[in-house]
Amino acid sequence: MTIQGNHEQWSAVDRYVTERLVHADEALDAALAASEAAGLPAINVAPNQGKLLYLLALMQGARRVLEIGTLGGYSTIWLARALPDDGRLISLEYDPAHADVARANLARAGLEKITEVRTGAALDILPRLVAEPGAGPFDLVFVDADKVNNARYVEWALRLTRPGSVIIVDNVVRGGAVTDPANQDPSVLGTREMYDLIAAEPRLDATAVQTVGTKGYDGFLLARVVS
Ligand code: SAH
Ligand code: DHB
Ligand code: MG
Repeated sequence: MTIQGNHEQWSAVDRYVTERLVHADEALDAALAASEAAGLPAINVAPNQGKLLYLLALMQGARRVLEIGTLGGYSTIWLARALPDDGRLISLEYDPAHADVARANLARAGLEKITEVRTGAALDILPRLVAEPGAGPFDLVFVDADKVNNARYVEWALRLTRPGSVIIVDNVVRGGAVTDPANQDPSVLGTREMYDLIAAEPRLDATAVQTVGTKGYDGFLLARVVS
């Protein structure tokens, strides 16, 4: 078995699934087109993964969502669509140019009332969120920013959630790099640190699943806050 696998086949199956189950949508297509036009990297979740986030948020009955890593707001739109009219989503983005694209995409999707993109380094914003009356607790946190800080983000997520909340982390497999001892890339080290932290954290009950598709071979970690 190769680490690369058969990307063409994975993509064909993603297209098959997406055509049948993930219905085409102008606002989502426009968000990707605007992101590409603005020169953003195409590292958003795939459409079928976005729909997974949407379904998980709905199943969770989420009213408040925190996202770390907005990019052009593609995953943000999926998550925000799972919220009730009085729901709220806060998304944190380091790059002001990304945040501008995301805000325009969210407005085009009619979600500007319930979503807010905050610009800055997440590790600077998260302590302020903890101190902000009424910001939390969040019912669902989606971690998808710089992987170096993933353990820190999970620690902050624990402070911003309640028992029963869900924490989802993207890109926890990275082509299998996580188990390659020769790979000492800082984002891989950050990912391992996150696994070790969660493994030792009795307040979290977690699993991770490997995924393949248009975005390659990667995976999601899913954790439930126990207490
Ligand atoms: N969630 C998006 C993809 C996010 S890509 C989607 O699926 O559509 C990761 C984003 O995290 C990038 O836009 C990057 O600028 C941002 N980022 C990187 N480091 C960050 C930091 N320290 N704080 C906040 N955002 C950061
Ligand atoms: C990268 C970041 C992501 O969040 C992702 O889903 C894929 C790639 C990256 O930084 O390369
Ligand atoms: Mg990601």
